[in-house]
Amino acid sequence: MGTTPTDDLRLEPAAVDRMLATGQAAPALASWVRDRAPAELRKGRGYVVIVGADHLSLDDAKRYLMLVSRLFGAVMPQDYLAEEVREIRDRGMDITTSRSARYSDTRFGGHLHTDGMHRPGHIPDYFTLYCHRSARDGGESVLVVIDDLLDRLRQRPGILATLEGEFHFDSRDTSGRGPRTVPRPILESTADGISINYIREYVESGHAVEGVPPLTAEQRAALDAVDEALADPALHRHIRLRRSDLMIIHNRRLVHGRTDFVDHDDPGKRRLLLRTWIDAR
Ligand SMILES: [Fe+2]
Repeated sequence: MGTTPTDDLRLEPAAVDRMLATGQAAPALASWVRDRAPAELRKGRGYVVIVGADHLSLDDAKRYLMLVSRLFGAVMPQDYLAEEVREIRDRGMDITTSRSARYSDTRFGGHLHTDGMHRPGHIPDYFTLYCHRSARDGGESVLVVIDDLLDRLRQRPGILATLEGEFHFDSRDTSGRGPRTVPRPILESTADGISINYIREYVESGHAVEGVPPLTAEQRAALDAVDEALADPALHRHIRLRRSDLMIIHNRRLVHGRTDFVDHDDPGKRRLLLRTWIDAR
């Protein structure tokens, strides 16, 4: 059972309604985003949670999420659909059997990862998850802080240097307009310290693309070391989002995933999260 998140900021429903009516952030929210939240994201535990807006329709929830997201930076289009607010729900997909499937379209857990590294250009610095409806069982967020991961990897000589080299991530672009793979390191230095880009399945399928060099033995061993560390429950922080919880997560300092979930029979009650990607530069 995961912990419910710490309430970093609580907004009264009336304040949220005013925000939606005026398009302006509540003063308490604006000052918190300006003065406190970035330090927690960039140097602290890597995520923050806003609670209190538990009365919103889906359309209002999307507008609320956009208003909050824009306080943190520029909202980025997601995947090749160019949508700003992505509905995260079980679409009956499986990333291990379908090249066009995304983790966010499945109900399976595991596969800890970061978001957006498979697209060319800037990787989202932060992403948000707004819980419109939670699953009947499971579906908790699982977070691993990069510092804990690096501590494990440093115990094995040569692993960090290999991960700082180039890997090919499968772009999962089925439109034919984008590249088949996007080359990037898995570990790189950024303003927020060493950052990570990771999802094993996309690296595996990226290096299987014709014309891309296959993974070397050193690369494979380094990836196995990452997976071994990420699989250790001692490194996992579980967060159970409740209806209307809005979590902002540092996408490069935390590796994330979730536990498997079981949905309600009623389609109108099934798990539905909303996500944005944020360029915080
Ligand atoms: Fe994700």
